This record gives sequence, C-alpha cells and structure tokens, in this order.
Amino acid sequence: MKGRLRLGVNIDHVATIRNARGGPHPDPLRAAAVAQAAGADGITAHLREDRRHMTDGDIERLVAEIALPLNLEMAATDEMLAIAVKHRPHAACIVPERREEVTTEGGLDAAGGRQGLEPVVGRLTEAGVRVSLFVDPDPAQLDAAAALGVPVIELHTGAYCEAFYEAGATAPATLGELDRLVRGAAHAEALGLECHAGHGLTFDNVTPVAAIPTVMELNIGHFLIGEAIFGGLDSSIKRMRAIMDKARADSLGSRTA
Ligand code: PXP
Repeated sequence: MKGRLRLGVNIDHVATIRNARGGPHPDPLRAAAVAQAAGADGITAHLREDRRHMTDGDIERLVAEIALPLNLEMAATDEMLAIAVKHRPHAACIVPERREEVTTEGGLDAAGGRQGLEPVVGRLTEAGVRVSLFVDPDPAQLDAAAALGVPVIELHTGAYCEAFYEAGATAPATLGELDRLVRGAAHAEALGLECHAGHGLTFDNVTPVAAIPTVMELNIGHFLIGEAIFGGLDSSIKRMRAIMDKARADSLGSRTA
C-alpha cells in the first residue's frame, strides 16, 4: 500500500443534465468545486467526439479554474490529442470510443492497437501529461500497456459491476469478475504500473474493489451524480469516500492481523 486510496469524481453527467435544456445550469464547474470540498482528490471528465456531455469550453474552464488535478478521458484521435496537448491536463486516460455506445463499454485494445497508440502516448508524455490506459483486467492488455511505457492503467470494473447486479454480490460470476480485478491489479503492480479502477461503481459494490491494496484511485461518476438527486452531491461524495476509506482500512487491518 503506497498511500491513501484517491477518489476521482467524474462530472460528465452534470453536463448531460445541463445539455438536456441547453442553458448554463447545472454548471460542471460548480460540481467540481463541491466535489473538492467533499473530499474528492481529482476531477475526471470525458470529452467525447460527439460532445454529448462535456464541451470544449468545459475542459478549458476546468483546466483554468479548478484546483484539483484534472483527468481527461479521451479517445486516441488526432482531434483529442490536439486538445489534450493544448490544455495539458494533469492526466489523460485513453479510452475506446464508439459513437453508438451509451457509455464506455469495454477496455481499450492496447495489445491490438499498439501501433496507433504509440504516437498518442508519446505526444501526451512529451507534453507532460500523465497517461493511463483504460483496459480490461486481461494480462495481455496489461503487458501491452507496460510495453507502451504508460505509468498508469485503469482497470474497467464494468463486468464485475454488471455481475454484481445481475447475479448478486456472492454469486460465482461476481466473484469470478472480482478475482479477475484482483489478479489484474497484482499483474499491473508486478509490471510497475500504477493501478486505477472504475466504471459502474456504487455504494453497494465499491467495497471489494476499494479493498484491493494496490489500487490507488477509483474514478466514479454516474452513480454519484444520480445519488446527488436524492441527497446532494456533497453527501453522495462524502458517503462514497467513507465507504472507500473503511474498505481500505479493513483490508489493511486484516492483512496485518
Ligand atoms: N473510468 C473511465 C475510464 C470511464 O470511461 C468512466 C465512464 O466515463 C468511469 C471511470 C466512470 O464510470 P461511471 O460513470 O460508471 O462511474
């Protein structure tokens, strides 16, 4: 364990709600400020090709005006690369993007797409941006990420979260997906990669992921913004923080007991 488990709050869906009406409310920057006050360690935002939630102006304002580090999620396209190099966010997480998908459905094919990724990783790194790749917990993908020279990978937790809701917390399918994450995190550590994780995490399913001691950061968005409807953004983030901190403390306690 190398430090406190960080929480990156993904504020894309504040922009989704704003864009439903086209005006300025609710403002993602205000959400970033609330997230910071509530204990978030970073802000995550995905600028999609179709600009369905975050806009270029949002990214510009986030870089200029928020104190927390910005993790820009982006596809490995020339357009996004130019934007990232212009704004130089703290970090960029390269994700696969398909126009027709509702959300990022699977991990990046770092193994199959190595040639295309190499120049993007190189250019971002030269610009001083910390690059991560959003990959499934598959050893071949992690090996490819290490070969590309990125310092960070983010494990896609979507399959685990889906199994959790479809089959239950202790069903073999869920435990199997959790085991893939645990083994993926261990493999990443053996390769010297910092390990992050995210997608589909909620109050109910976050504990086993937060308990993996080499996972350094969780990026969580949709659930936190949805939960904010009922109790406020401040409260949903503080509760997530508390669950994550407890999971990590309990897992460390059980390792040293
Ligand atoms: N991490 C990455 C790389 C993502 O693409 C997303 C979704 O934008 C998330 C984390 C957060 O997922 P969710 O919104 O389901 O919490």
